[in-house]
Amino acid sequence: MLKIAVLISGNGSNLQSLIDACEKNTIRGEIQLVISNNPNAFGIQRAKKHSLNCKVINNEDFKSREDFDLAILQELKKINLDLIVLAGFMRILTPIITESFEEKIINIHPSLLPKYPGLNTHESVIKNGDKKHGITIHFVNDVLDGGKIIAQGEISVRQSDTLQDLKKRIHSVEHAMLPMVVSKFADGSICKYEKIYKKF
Ligand code: GAR
Repeated sequence: MLKIAVLISGNGSNLQSLIDACEKNTIRGEIQLVISNNPNAFGIQRAKKHSLNCKVINNEDFKSREDFDLAILQELKKINLDLIVLAGFMRILTPIITESFEEKIINIHPSLLPKYPGLNTHESVIKNGDKKHGITIHFVNDVLDGGKIIAQGEISVRQSDTLQDLKKRIHSVEHAMLPMVVSKFADGSICKYEKIYKKF
């Protein structure tokens, strides 16, 4: 069984997709720890509803990024984790974490990286009149949204798509692809050399 930790900051719909897949056994794994930096994140309720071990580590309680990361590291180290999933975790991690778990941390990002790292990806797609948009799941290193790409899911942007439409369409791609990628980690079938690319 893959031992998984999930880090969140908000709604936690991607966390939910992982919870559901673990419960249905489509992921041969167990979420052993959920960490939220935001005490008001709805994802905390989701974790509690499924009786998951959930910790709030509020970044505002720490003087520096490094101190915050050390507190997270302390929690992560309590378990012999196989995979750490950043699922809507809106903090940049320092090498304190990224170097401790090389190729064991993955992030889901709402754009076709390397296009649009950082925030407001849907806004950028609309502003630039892009025809394609999508999601990326990648390993985390110390470059923001810059680690090796594992999988991407692409959608065609419709002329009528509003910001809300794009958010919704991108979320449904995320909820399909994140459990699929995590299940490959659990089966040992993740390929580090060839990225998965799907059109939706
Ligand atoms: C997701 O769309 C995820 O790709 C994005 O935040 C959303 C979280 O939704 N992550 C980032 O922007 C990270 N750079 P959720 O809380 O419902 O899973």
